[in-house]
Amino acid sequence: MQYFLDSADTEFIARAMEFYPVDGVTTNPTIIAKERKEFRPLIREIRAILGGDPALHVQCLATEADAIVREGIAIQELAGDNSYVKIPVTAEGLKAMKLLKLREINVTATAIFTPQQALMAALAGASYCAPYIDRLENLSIDGAKVVADMVRLFQIHHLGTKVLAASFKNVEQVHKVCLAGAHSVTVGRDLFKKLIAHPMTDSSVDKFISDWEEAYGKGEAILAV
Ligand code: E4P
Repeated sequence: MQYFLDSADTEFIARAMEFYPVDGVTTNPTIIAKERKEFRPLIREIRAILGGDPALHVQCLATEADAIVREGIAIQELAGDNSYVKIPVTAEGLKAMKLLKLREINVTATAIFTPQQALMAALAGASYCAPYIDRLENLSIDGAKVVADMVRLFQIHHLGTKVLAASFKNVEQVHKVCLAGAHSVTVGRDLFKKLIAHPMTDSSVDKFISDWEEAYGKGEAILAV
């Protein structure tokens, strides 16, 4: 299981990489545009924060295969080792996936709404397939069921492609796709913090400290007594 940060907010990325078990970052043109920074320096900055190992998924903007391939090559150079070019699953996108695969450039197929789109992308060479859960659920389609079908299709056909579930608006959506077998999820800044937040955890910690301080005195460390 892998958690990714669906963000280009460098302050958040740096802090989250320090505190949480995170495997990398995903972006798309909307996420990049929110930062109001130049694309190339921003991608370089994110890679510098991540270091060499964690994955960096960066989306192309072009819609025709040849142009997608050109952007993909540039993205891979920019984002460095362990980077993935995100490409929406269209006919031109699938053609670009096959061409990038021949060049051994990693691809994440994105903007996925059906298991058949995912299967086609996997066969075209995508390493990850990203279904958009909240956007699916706004169409009254069960996002977790779409994920479960994708996982099953990849198993039945012996494909190594992983599900990278995306587009979440609440913790329950994340939880359900994890149970449905998603190999990875990508979560934005505000929701990411909520994944571990619980008032009972905070009040339990407060109680441990007040019980301790009642017995040993305020501010006494556990190793000091
Ligand atoms: C990530 O890969 C997707 O681009 C992203 O999660 C889409 O999220 P949204 O539906 O909140 O825009």
